[in-house]
Amino acid sequence: MSPFFINPGLPCPGDFWMNVNEMIQADREYVLHPYASPTNPLPSIPVVGAEGVRLLLADGRELIDGMASWWCVIHGYNHPVLNSALQQQIAKMSHVMFGGITHPQAITLAKKLVEITPDGLRKVFFCDSGSVSVEVAIKMAIQYWTSLGHKGKNRLLTIRHGYHGDTFGAMSVCDPITGMHHLFSGAVARQYFAEAPQCRADGEWDQADISSMAAILSENKERIAAVIVEPIVQGAGGMRFYAPEYLRQLRRLCDENDVLLIFDEIATGFGRTGKLFACEHAQVLPDIICLGKAITGGYMSFAATITSQNVCEGIGRDNGVFMHGPTFMGNPLACAVANASLDLLMGYDLARMIGGIETALLEGLAPCRKFGTVADVRVLGAIGVVELHKPVDMVRIQPEFVRRGVWVRPFGKLVYVMPSYVIEPCDLNFLTRMIVEVVSLL
Ligand SMILES: Cc1ncc(COP(=O)(O)O)c(C=O)c1O
Repeated sequence: MSPFFINPGLPCPGDFWMNVNEMIQADREYVLHPYASPTNPLPSIPVVGAEGVRLLLADGRELIDGMASWWCVIHGYNHPVLNSALQQQIAKMSHVMFGGITHPQAITLAKKLVEITPDGLRKVFFCDSGSVSVEVAIKMAIQYWTSLGHKGKNRLLTIRHGYHGDTFGAMSVCDPITGMHHLFSGAVARQYFAEAPQCRADGEWDQADISSMAAILSENKERIAAVIVEPIVQGAGGMRFYAPEYLRQLRRLCDENDVLLIFDEIATGFGRTGKLFACEHAQVLPDIICLGKAITGGYMSFAATITSQNVCEGIGRDNGVFMHGPTFMGNPLACAVANASLDLLMGYDLARMIGGIETALLEGLAPCRKFGTVADVRVLGAIGVVELHKPVDMVRIQPEFVRRGVWVRPFGKLVYVMPSYVIEPCDLNFLTRMIVEVVSLL
């Protein structure tokens, strides 16, 4: 019996050449997985289909998905509207280069994104993934100041506990302790780090919270091109929810010190926190915003970096051009599915939908508070977090979730969920009950 209780001899549904056991073995032999040992990985669970909020395993079982495939699958899997958008686009054109060429899906999507993001964000740069959209934002900020004659303004300032992706520029602004700086020290650009905000999203504001940021900004403004933060929710760096007032003060400080402000809404964008974009909790406009993940409803890797007229005019000074251009920029399939996903999203009563999930998560996860192993339970929008005192033993705990029919993938001290927005109350209730059960075993 495999550690995931899969019946190894069972043939897989569909046209696969392997049975379940062969699949697990071949995966271990040929495939590298994220943040996993290249030589002795934990076995991965073969999934052969997905529908709504359910993952269909190769052995025939189903799991209720609490992760929305890392924040992305907001409308559920195998959605007929998204499928049809892709099928229609495939019949016309799967890809075309974006240099010197444009197409209706990209134009439509850019216009929609400008319309729904905060007023003042005007021009869209399409890119391949969230990390790349962060690279693009960093390049925009540095090129802006270079064009204005401030070549020395080429460093970034951020807050601790951030996560912005795994490419080098993005890594340089991830938390220096929990991120990967120690592994790549010397190779990662050195940036400035302010203390992370301590005031909780639902708590009192304390002016001292922004003092480390204010001090670094005023001392180093000649060298800093931009501040980059995940607004309201610091995701993979600790699932921390902080006070909107921090962002209001940060905007003011950036303006006073001539520094651009970048919001990384790759995880929080498209409704996850209960607002369409998390910066709306603070009513703050960044100079550049990064969007990704849910932009295609979780159908494919795609992202966008959107900026203001002012930044564009800075970069474009003296016939300047913006120096970035991915091969698959503006891919028509990705744009088509993103357009369809946005239409679905804009048709939802988001406040009601996410508010319902928030209430269910609050009630469903509350029993975890009574366990001595639990340090905190917090919920914001469609994000539920149980923080433990000690890191989770994944070898022991992952099978416990799977055995109970749910897909929850903890990291470090965090057991967390961010389900698809279309999850039914009974499925959500089941998901939270199973989390309480598993956390009680820790
Ligand atoms: C806030 C944030 N920024 C950037 C990224 C990187 O996005 P991607 O994995 O698509 O490169 C992530 C991914 O988890 C993220 O949560």
